[in-house]
Amino acid sequence: MNRRPFIAGNWKMYKTSAEAAETAKKLAGLVSGVTNVDVMIAPPFTALAQVHEAIKESSVMLGAQNLFWEKEGAFTGEISPQMVVSAGCRYVIIGHSERRQYFGETDLSVNKKIRAAITNNLVPVFCIGETEKERDADNTFNILDKQIKMGLEGFSPDDLQPVILAYEPVWAIGTGKTATSGQAQEVHLFIRNLLEKLFGKKIAGSVRILYGGSVKPENIKELMSMPDVDGALVGGASLNADKFAEIIKYK
Ligand code: PGA
Repeated sequence: MNRRPFIAGNWKMYKTSAEAAETAKKLAGLVSGVTNVDVMIAPPFTALAQVHEAIKESSVMLGAQNLFWEKEGAFTGEISPQMVVSAGCRYVIIGHSERRQYFGETDLSVNKKIRAAITNNLVPVFCIGETEKERDADNTFNILDKQIKMGLEGFSPDDLQPVILAYEPVWAIGTGKTATSGQAQEVHLFIRNLLEKLFGKKIAGSVRILYGGSVKPENIKELMSMPDVDGALVGGASLNADKFAEIIKYK
């Protein structure tokens, strides 16, 4: 199965609208010749409209970092799928470990958000990953099994067609400690086998599984050489257009 590489930048809570638009514009110029990789950036909500404007003539695509599942209502501080779409997004990151860790995101809320994304034609980038403690206790596969089964509960293989998974070991996020390519491959294969068991061979073969956690220009090539690593979700190194372009041009 030929899966098209997908490289996404998660800008977290960095950059004002003007800074984000400037970086996005620069990035779009730097990767204008890249035709073999899907590129997405997810700036903060407040910068979405300006970044959309800055990249609309380019192949760089826009994503949000979160959403709430309701259409509208008295939910102070929340953003609906429709709002995300109207800001120009085609993608949305869901269940990032920082949201699980600091903002009370659970497998249940992740499930509702994935459903809301799909219903609104947004491609969810569904994040999973174990903490260092869980890995040390040999619990990595149990944790991932639970996160995937609960996050995707109630979905049909058809629903899952657009979904992208991102394996991000929590101990590798922002720490400079990347999983080795062998560790990443082992987990990605586990995820693909689980998807096959739950949803069938066709979906398991076509779903893209990204690796995230201290991805840099120095390690992307090795990670991407693994058969089940289909792309990357990049935090810190995506904030700089030159660095991120280098990652995107890993080939
Ligand atoms: P990092 O973050 O690349 O800075 O480790 C990755 C992520 O949180 O998506």
